[in-house]
Amino acid sequence: MRKILDGSTLTLGVCYYPEHWPQDMWAADLDRMSECGIRVVRIAEFSWNLTEPSEGVFTYDFYDRFLDLCQEKEMKVIFGTPTATPPAWLTKRYPETLNAHADGTPLEHGGRRHYNYNAPVYREKAALIVEKLASHFGRHPAVIGWQIDNELNCEVDEFYSAADACAFRIFLREKYGTLEELNRAWGTVFWNQTYTDWEEISLPKRARSGNPNPHALLDYARFISHSARGFARMQSEILRKYLKEGDFITTNGRFDHLDNHRMTRESLDFYTYDSYPDMAYNVDGGRLPSGLRDREASRSLSEVRSISPVFGIMEQQSGPNGWTTCMAAPAPKPGQMTLWTMQSIAHGADYISYFRWRTCTFGTEMYWHGILDYSGRENRRMAELRSIHRKLEAIQEVAGGCYRAQVGVLKDYDNCWDLRIDMWHRDLENVSQPAIFAAAQKTHTPLDYVYLSDEGASAPLSAYKVLIYAHPCMMSKARAAILEEYVAGGGILILGCRSGYKDLDGHCVMQDLPGLLRPLTGADIPEFTRTCPGDSPVMIRWGDRRLEAPVFNDLLRPLAGEESAEVLGVYENCYYAGEGALLRHRCQKGVVYSLGTVFTEELTAALLEEVQAAEPERETMVLPKCCELAVREKDGKKYYFVLNYSADQVTILLKRSLVSLFDGVSVEGEVALEPYGTAVLM
Ligand code: GAL
Repeated sequence: MRKILDGSTLTLGVCYYPEHWPQDMWAADLDRMSECGIRVVRIAEFSWNLTEPSEGVFTYDFYDRFLDLCQEKEMKVIFGTPTATPPAWLTKRYPETLNAHADGTPLEHGGRRHYNYNAPVYREKAALIVEKLASHFGRHPAVIGWQIDNELNCEVDEFYSAADACAFRIFLREKYGTLEELNRAWGTVFWNQTYTDWEEISLPKRARSGNPNPHALLDYARFISHSARGFARMQSEILRKYLKEGDFITTNGRFDHLDNHRMTRESLDFYTYDSYPDMAYNVDGGRLPSGLRDREASRSLSEVRSISPVFGIMEQQSGPNGWTTCMAAPAPKPGQMTLWTMQSIAHGADYISYFRWRTCTFGTEMYWHGILDYSGRENRRMAELRSIHRKLEAIQEVAGGCYRAQVGVLKDYDNCWDLRIDMWHRDLENVSQPAIFAAAQKTHTPLDYVYLSDEGASAPLSAYKVLIYAHPCMMSKARAAILEEYVAGGGILILGCRSGYKDLDGHCVMQDLPGLLRPLTGADIPEFTRTCPGDSPVMIRWGDRRLEAPVFNDLLRPLAGEESAEVLGVYENCYYAGEGALLRHRCQKGVVYSLGTVFTEELTAALLEEVQAAEPERETMVLPKCCELAVREKDGKKYYFVLNYSADQVTILLKRSLVSLFDGVSVEGEVALEPYGTAVLM
C-alpha cells in the first residue's frame, strides 16, 4: 500500500529546507507542522553538496540527523534528488555538463537548471549521487518516496550544448536510419538544405536565422522530450532498486517539450504538480483572454489529471510570490489558501504539500513566501492552514474519487509542439484553448483533457459524450482511425478549422482538405483564409445566433453525394458570404461537427448547448458564473465541489437536499457561500 495517494486518505505536506535553518530550529518546526496537520515534508532537491561536498567524497550526517528527527516526530519524508542544481566543483571541472544559449555560450553556475541532460559525464555523476542517496537514505523508515530532480524543463526547455548536438544526431539516426529518409522528412530540397553526412546536422536554433527548417524544429522538440525522459528514467531505475514496500517515485511540475504522459508511464508511480494560482494572472498583468484569474489554474490541474487521474500537489501556493528578478503576486486573501487547496483536491489531488514552511531570508526566492514569514511568528496563513486541516478531515472519504467529466478536450504532443514553431497553427490554439476552458467553466461543465498518440488515447474515449479536438492540424491514419471508432460507437466529435492539413512530419498534405478527416467529417474545404484584423469581423449566422469567426475561416461544404452532412451555420459577410461555417455529419451512431473557425467562448458555449453537454448538473444546482463546479465520484457517490473565486459572498441554489461535508449539515434551496468560500456537497 502506498503511503500517500493510497486511495483512502487526503494528506497534507510542506516543502522544508533544513539546510536553510539552524539545526536547533528543526524540532520546533516539525512539532508546529504536526500540530497543523502536516504529515509529510519534501526535502533535499537542491542540496547536492550536503552529500557530496567534493568530487567522490560522500557524507550522510546532515540528512541522517534530519531523518532521525523526522522519525522521532512521526513526520514522513519525500526525498528529492538534487540534479537540478549541480555543484560548482562539478561544472567547473566538467564544463561540458552545462547547457548553452543558442549562440553556444555556456550557462554559468549561480542559478539553477544550468545543466544539460546529455553530457555523458553528467549522466554518470547524476547516477552516482542518486545511487548514493537512494542506497543510504532509501532504507530510512521516515522516507516514503522520491522526487526526481525538480521541475524538468522549467526555466529552460531548449538545449544547445555540444553534448546535445551529438545526442541529437544519434536520435535522428535512430529515428530515420538513412540520410535520404531524414532529407525527405525535413524537406531539405527546399533552399538546398540537403545533408550528405550526419555530422553536418546541427541543432536547429530558432534565433539563428529567424527561419529555421520547421520540420527540423519539430524533431528538435521531440528530441528534448526524449532527452528529459531518458534522464528521468535513468534516475528512476536506480531509485527503484532501493524502494521499500509502498515507497513511490514521482516528479513535479509540468513543462513544455516533455511528453509527461510517457515519462510517467516509464518512470513514475504518479505525477505531482506545483500549483501557484496567483501566478496565472500576474505573469501577464491579469490580461488572460478568459479573464478567469486564479481559476485558470484549474486548466493546468485538468491537464495534470490526464497524466495521473489521482495526483499530488508538491508545491501549493501559500503566500505572496516573487523572485528578486521577476513575478510579483500579493498575499493570498483570507480564504484563498483554502480555495486553492480545494481547487486542487476538486481536480483529483489527494496530496497537498505547501510551498514552503518558512520564507527564506536570502537568495533569489526571498520574496517567494511560504506559510510563515521571516521571523516564524504565528500568522493568518498558519491559522488558515489549521482550518484547512479540519476541513480535510471532514472530507477524507473523497480520497481516490474520480473526477467526472462528459466532455473531453483532445490534444497530442505533436500538435502541441508544432504550435510553438508554426504561427499559422499557434494563433488558432491561443484563442481556442483558453476559450474552450472558459466556456466550460462558466457553464459549469466539467472538462477533461485526453492525449492522443498513434498508440491510443490516455483515457478510454468511449467514456466521453463529447470530444473537442480544437485544431488537429497534424493528423495520422492511426489517429483518424481512433476518432472514427469513437464516432462509430456513438461519440460526438467537434473539430475546429485547419484540421488534418499536415502529416506528422509537419508537411502540408496534397489531398483535398480536411485530408485524412474527409470521410469522418463528411466535409470538403475548397478554400480557406486567415482573417484580417483590420477588416470588419467575419460573422457566422447559425439559426438565431450571430457569432464572430475570427483568426481563420475554412469554407465548409458537404462532400459530394454525402447526404448525412448538413450545413448548420454560414458565413454572413466577406467574399464567401453564404458558404458553410459549421457543418454537422451524422456518421454511424455518432455525430461530427466541423467548425470553420477557432473556438471563441461564445461559439464553444453554443456548441456545448447544441450537443446537450452544458451544465450537466443543472437538475441538482444552479451556480453563479464566478463559481466553479467539479465532481469527484467514488463508490457510486458524487461529491460536488463548489468553489467561489470572487471577493463577494454569493448565493447558490440547491434543487435537492445535499449534505455539506465540512459541517455534516443538510442543505437545500438558497445557500450562501462566503467570499472565496468553498463547499463540498454530497
Ligand atoms: C517552483 C520550484 C520551487 C520554487 C518555486 C518558487 O517552480 O519548483 O523550487 O522555485 O517554484 O519559485
